[in-house]
Amino acid sequence: MCGIVGYIGKQKASAIILEGLKRLEYRGYDSAGVATQQGDHFDLAKKIGRVEGLIKTTPALKLPGTTGIGHTRWATHGGVTDANAHPHISSDQKFAIIHNGVVENYASIKKFLLTKGYTFKSETDTEVLCNLIAYHYQKEPATKEGSRFLESVRKTLRHIEGTYGIAVMCADNPAEIVAARKGSPLILGVGDGELMLASDVSAIISRTQNVVYLKDGEIVHMTAQNFSITTLDSSDVSPVIDKITWNIEDSEVGAFDHFMEKEIFEQPAALENTMRGRFSEDGSTAQFGGLNITAIDFRQVDRFHFIACGSAWHACLVAEQLIERFARVPVEVDYASEFRYRNIPLSKNALFFTISQSGETIDTLAAMREAKRKGYKVLAISNVVGSSIAREADGGVYQHVGPEIGVASTKAFTSQLLVGAMLALYIGRMRDMSFSGGIEYVKALKGAPDLVRETLKLAPQLKEIAKRYAHYKDMLFLGRLTLFPVALEGALKLKEISYIHAEGYPAAEMKHGPIALISEECPSVFFVPSGEMFNKVVSSMQEIKARKGKIIAIATQNCELPSGLVDELIRIPECHEAVLPIVASIPVQLLSYYMAVELKRDVDKPRNLAKSVTVE
Ligand code: F6R
Repeated sequence: MCGIVGYIGKQKASAIILEGLKRLEYRGYDSAGVATQQGDHFDLAKKIGRVEGLIKTTPALKLPGTTGIGHTRWATHGGVTDANAHPHISSDQKFAIIHNGVVENYASIKKFLLTKGYTFKSETDTEVLCNLIAYHYQKEPATKEGSRFLESVRKTLRHIEGTYGIAVMCADNPAEIVAARKGSPLILGVGDGELMLASDVSAIISRTQNVVYLKDGEIVHMTAQNFSITTLDSSDVSPVIDKITWNIEDSEVGAFDHFMEKEIFEQPAALENTMRGRFSEDGSTAQFGGLNITAIDFRQVDRFHFIACGSAWHACLVAEQLIERFARVPVEVDYASEFRYRNIPLSKNALFFTISQSGETIDTLAAMREAKRKGYKVLAISNVVGSSIAREADGGVYQHVGPEIGVASTKAFTSQLLVGAMLALYIGRMRDMSFSGGIEYVKALKGAPDLVRETLKLAPQLKEIAKRYAHYKDMLFLGRLTLFPVALEGALKLKEISYIHAEGYPAAEMKHGPIALISEECPSVFFVPSGEMFNKVVSSMQEIKARKGKIIAIATQNCELPSGLVDELIRIPECHEAVLPIVASIPVQLLSYYMAVELKRDVDKPRNLAKSVTVE
C-alpha cells in the first residue's frame, strides 16, 4: 500500500526513481510524485494517475538533482488529488517527505502545528508528519555537526502513533536522506557508489542485489558515501547485508500481456520451486528447514490455528481440511482482521500459522503479534524473504515462487495450497499416516506441476468461454469440501479484476439462499469431482438448470455428466485430493483473467486495490 523509492548517488535521481516507481505501482496507483534536491532547493513533480502519466508530463530538466525521493499512492487520508499526492514539502520549505502508512494521531498534531504557524496544502497525515519534523528541527540545537536533521526526524517519530515507512530530505543537508520504518516495509539497497531505498526489492533490483531489510523502529541516515542505522532510542544497529536471489527478468512482464497472465503460466515452475528439497530421502514425508520446532513439540500440538486475509485465507481453508483429514488434528481458520478482536479461548498446546504472500499485510502481522503476546509460537508461510511477517515469526516456510506483481494472486495462491498440503503430509506422517500412504501422497504432490501444465492447455477454451460470459453482471461459484475454498477464490478473482459481482458458496448450501439469484442472467461455475461428492454436486446442478441458470462445469476427467445438464464443460485431470484444489484453481484463474481482458479492465492494477495492504 503505497510504494516509496529513494536515491542518492551520482546519477540523475529522477530517472532512477521513476523507473523504480513503475515497478512498485502494484502497491498503489492513485497518484505518483518525485522530488529531487539541488543544494537547498527541492524540485517537485506530482500528479494524480499512473507513473506513466507523470513521466509524460514532467520534462527531465525539471528534476535535475542526484538525490531524490518518489512515491506511488494508495489513498488513505484525503482524496485522490494532486495536492494530496506525495512528496509533501513542509510549509517552511525545509523538508520533503514521502510516507507509506497511517499517522493515527495526526489530527491533534495538526491542531498543535496550526497554533505554531505551520500551514497545510493537503488533507494528508503525511504533511502533518513533515511539518512536525520542521517544528522539531527549529527547536533542535545545531550542536553536533550533521545530526540535527536526523535527530529532528527521530524526535518526530517518537510522537507518532500509527505506521510509517518514510524517506525525508532536508534543504540544509543536500545529498542526505533520513528514512525510517514502523509497520510499513522499507529496504535499503547498497549499490556501487550509490544508495537506494524502496518498499520492496523489485524497485531496486536493476541497480543492486545487496540489500538491508530495515526493522521496525530503525532509522537509516544515508549520505552519498555511507549509511548508518540507529533505533528510535538512539542505539546503534549493525547492518546485515543480504543478497537477493532473483533477478530483474523475474519482475518483468516479458512476452506476456499482463503480469497476471505471466504468473498463471509460471505456476508449474513455481510449484516445483516450492517443493524443491522438501521431501524426505525415503520419499514418504515432507521436510521443512525453517520451522524451528522439533518433531516432538510438533507432535504435542492439539490444535492448529491458521490466520490470513483474502486469497491466503482461502488457502488456509484448504489446509484446514487436508490437515484434519490426513493428520486428524483440529484446525481453526480465522480472518486475521477478526482474530485480534475475538479473543477466542485457546488451548495450551495450540500452534499458529500465518499465510501471507507479501509478508506485510498489517492485519495478519497484528494477529500474529497478538498470538505471540499470548505466548504462542507462530510459524509463517510467506513468499517475500525478509518481510515483516517472515522476520517476526518463530519459524516458517518460504514459498519461493519469485515476485508476484499482478495484484490478483495466482502463483502465490497455488503455492500456498501446496505448502498446506505438504504440512498435512508432514503432520499426518507424525501421527497415523502409514509409510505407503506417505509414498503415495508424495508421488501425487510431485506430479502436481505436470497436471497444472496440462490444465493450462485449457487456456484457448477458457478464452472463448470468457467471450460468451463477460457481459453477465452476476455469477456464482459452487464447490464442495476442498473445492469450496476454490469456489471462494474463483469468485474473488472474478470480482477483483473484472468487477463482475460473484459469490462463492458450498454447492449444497446454495439452495438456502443464493438460489434466489438464479435466472438466465446469472450463470454458475460448478466444480465437479469424481468420487463420493459427484452425485450430490450433480443434484445441485439440476436445481440450477431447473431454474434456467447457465452452468459452466469444471469436471474431472472421469465424471460422466447427464447430457444437456451443462452449458460449458471444462475437463481437468483426475488427481489426488491434496492436488485437486491446485489443479481446479487454474481454470477459474484463466476464466477471470480472460473475462477481465474481454471487458478491457486494467488486469494488473484493478481499481481501488493494491497488492499489499499495510493499513488496518
Ligand atoms: C486477492 C489477493 C488478496 C491477498 C490478501 C493477502 O487476489 O491477492 O486477497 O491474498 O490481500 O495478501 P498477503 O498474502 O500478501 O498477506
